[in-house]
Amino acid sequence: MLVIVKNDYEEMSKEAAQIVADRLHKKPNLVLGLATGSTPLGLYKELIRMHKEEGLDFSKVTTFNLDEYVGLPPGHDQSYHYFMHENFFKHINIPDGSVNIPDGLVSDIDAFCDWYEEEIRKAGGIDLQILGIGSNGHIAFNEPGSSLGSRTRVKTLTEKTRQDNARFFKSPHEVPKYAITMGIGTIMDAKEQILLANDANKADAVKAAVEGPLTGQCPASVIQLHRKTFVIVTKDAAVKLSGSYPGTWKSSFMLEQ
Ligand code: GLP
Repeated sequence: MLVIVKNDYEEMSKEAAQIVADRLHKKPNLVLGLATGSTPLGLYKELIRMHKEEGLDFSKVTTFNLDEYVGLPPGHDQSYHYFMHENFFKHINIPDGSVNIPDGLVSDIDAFCDWYEEEIRKAGGIDLQILGIGSNGHIAFNEPGSSLGSRTRVKTLTEKTRQDNARFFKSPHEVPKYAITMGIGTIMDAKEQILLANDANKADAVKAAVEGPLTGQCPASVIQLHRKTFVIVTKDAAVKLSGSYPGTWKSSFMLEQ
């Protein structure tokens, strides 16, 4: 794990974008795992800028999103389909057929989850997975108590997560109770990961993930087992960390840390 502490959200987003662009230059048919939420918006914005101004090419990229709410149609403005289309895909040159997002309306969820896992496998596995973190330490929608070896499946959202995400909905009652999410085992299979956090309300979760015990009670702590994870956080989100960490990945050779 390589923890990188940046001054602010913009710096955090640009640092992450540099890594994505670097990997994309090295492997044009990169398989990218993508996350939703407010945290990666700056990363997507910077990648869009790189696409428009520097010709960063997504034409051979395949993407797999982490999760989707059960019951929301793709056109719902709070569905993760809508989020990804509006905030990223419609601005870059990725072919529609190369985008994969769990289907929140599917009737046979178990069969769908097996199919999603198989699609990731057939694509050669995820090269680089983007992750946010919930204030309760969740990654994707793997809530505290999730099995560390779990695969894509349906999960019940905790009240904490529903409250956190209620800010995006017209009323708290509209927040779905279930989601389809990649499992922790699925996420851990990614060859590299970037976990982002910028808000002060993530400081406890970041501390638990990076320096706390490995436990299903903080699903994000599983990154401690991963060989190539970048944790890129702002000073605000890093405020509870006790280790000393570098300012950028380019000056560091500590990926094995
Ligand atoms: C949701 C998503 C997670 C995301 C988390 C944090 O619950 N399923 O993937 O990391 O929200 O969201 P935000 O970045 O808005 O704080």
